[in-house]
Amino acid sequence: MFKKLFVTALFIGTLAFAANGQQVYQQFCASCHMANGEGVAGAFPPLVEEVPEYIEAGTDGINYLIHVILFGLQGQITAKGVTYNSMMPPYAAQLSDEQIAALLDYIAKAWGNDKLLPKDFQGFKPEDVARERGKSLTPQQVYEEWKKLEGK
Ligand code: HEC
Repeated sequence: MFKKLFVTALFIGTLAFAANGQQVYQQFCASCHMANGEGVAGAFPPLVEEVPEYIEAGTDGINYLIHVILFGLQGQITAKGVTYNSMMPPYAAQLSDEQIAALLDYIAKAWGNDKLLPKDFQGFKPEDVARERGKSLTPQQVYEEWKKLEGK
């Protein structure tokens, strides 16, 4: 009886504390990238179709995505043929490793992105975010990673 109660309490506790990627997205990202991930042409880049491309690129692309959320991004980029030259704010101070992993999993799979993911993609883990957090990059350093990924 007590064991059952304990297990139930543990289960409810886990639900309450498990980070919800969609919720984090709505709260912290949708104001710029929009709820449908389409962004605003010329101001905020789209995440639809773009996120799976970075994941397709392998470890460097996956780390780039983690770095953009943790450290921000500043420099001129192009996405779907449109140029953006603005600033993405860093979120290392506001979001935990669990929240960022859940958020990245959400944008990797939302809006039909799941159909474009490599079959062997394992998803984002809090450990991946924790490992990258220590690098403390600047938004300009993250931009250098973008240039390298795009061969610029
Ligand atoms: C204040 C507006 C704003 C908010 C809020 C914001 N972003 Fe951004 N984001 C941008 C801008 C602007 C860029 C492009 C920066 C540049 O031009 O260098 C960008 C770039 C990105 C990129 C890289 C796109 C690419 O094609 O390389 C990703 C991924 C991204 N944001 C995800 C997110 C996520 C996830 C959140 C929520 C934590 C978020 N952004 C919150 C404005 C925002």
